Amino acid sequence: MKDTAVADLIAAEEERERQGLELIPSENYVSRDVLEALGSIFTNKYSEGYPGKRYYGGQECTDPLETLAIERAKQLFGADHANVQPHSGVPANEAVYFAWLEPGDTVLAMDLGHGGHLSHGNPMTRSAHIYNFVSYKMKNIETGEIDYDELRELALKHKPKILLAGFSAYPRELDYEKFAAIAREVGDECMLMADMAHIAGLIAGGVAKNPFDYGFHVITTTTHKTLRGPRGGLILSKGTVSTPLRAPEKTLENLPTLIDRAIFPGTQGGPHEHVIAAKAVAFAEALRPEFKTYAQQVLKNAVALADAMQAEGFKLVTGGTSNHLILADVYTSFGINGKVAEGALDKIGLNLNKNAIPDDTLPPFSPSGIRLGTPAITTRGLTEKDMPTIASWMKQAIDARDDEEKLNQLHDEVRSFALKFPLPSDKVS
Ligand SMILES: Cc1ncc(COP(=O)(O)O)c(C=O)c1O
Repeated sequence: MKDTAVADLIAAEEERERQGLELIPSENYVSRDVLEALGSIFTNKYSEGYPGKRYYGGQECTDPLETLAIERAKQLFGADHANVQPHSGVPANEAVYFAWLEPGDTVLAMDLGHGGHLSHGNPMTRSAHIYNFVSYKMKNIETGEIDYDELRELALKHKPKILLAGFSAYPRELDYEKFAAIAREVGDECMLMADMAHIAGLIAGGVAKNPFDYGFHVITTTTHKTLRGPRGGLILSKGTVSTPLRAPEKTLENLPTLIDRAIFPGTQGGPHEHVIAAKAVAFAEALRPEFKTYAQQVLKNAVALADAMQAEGFKLVTGGTSNHLILADVYTSFGINGKVAEGALDKIGLNLNKNAIPDDTLPPFSPSGIRLGTPAITTRGLTEKDMPTIASWMKQAIDARDDEEKLNQLHDEVRSFALKFPLPSDKVS
């Protein structure tokens, strides 16, 4: 690359990723093939519309490409319809709201402090200015059980047009059957939506339940977390697929068409076909048997890391994990806030993020918790036997947070360990 300013930063980022251990649960390492597709010439092409119905000529390569991505996504998740154009997770959620709701309509979603995502009703978002968000919570923070009785009461009272299951910081599985039964009680206008941004790869790999098996109508997801694809979004639905150019009635059968129209022209312009190429590659990778093994290992590593952290004195929200992510209350455990813990761990090459714990009494920028997970380190090749080492480094770094010499020594240890595990993009798959 001739632009040395950018090339140097790319090289430095590659080294940072190679020399550290990525514990942020929403991150992963993509394959060489995904990177190549992402850097492909498809970035040059405008292709507003959908395969066979575009506003520009020259679509003889983009049409089969996007169709391939759509077919692979449908196969992976057992969907009737896939829209592979969302630029990311938030635009995917916003498009679904736009497709189904009128201004002022209600969405019942998980409380942000109990694990929900910003796009599920944070007052600073555009969606929260347009729609009415009501939230449900956990009944018991020690076990992570959702308060389904309260959820039902809220649903019958507010008659939500969307009942939304999904989370960014919840270490347990949801009971989709209960969600579906509650939505049926509310009536036909209540659409069941799952935001599976975090666990899509676990669903694809067969180690987490698929909401479609429980009657959900729509699934949104990011493609870059456990699914291990490029940064992007995806909307999957069940129902009849008709031409996106007609103005359909807002019925559950018409959801695919409503969603397509909500993405284009509703909320986005031209699709990013180079990203769609990379999504197609990632979907094919996730359809391979090796991906099942990967997903199983993500879970085994998460349970092993949670156990090892508890042995080091970390108090975990919900007492452990049933998925890929762990939420630890470092304030109760060690009397420090999550920002201090994140800073100390960053210094030794362990990357994770500060996070609020349920009903946190500390402010959002220095909350009580840290959030971490195993998708990226599992891609790198770490197994259960490596988890006690990571937990021990975490505890040592927290103890030595003001001792630069000790932190440097730990950083050297992490670096030489990490270098034994190449980045997947180093290998041609
Ligand atoms: C549940 C959930 N939905 C949506 C998103 C948003 O995705 P993006 O950052 O790609 O817009 C996230 C990202 O963290 C998420 O966890």
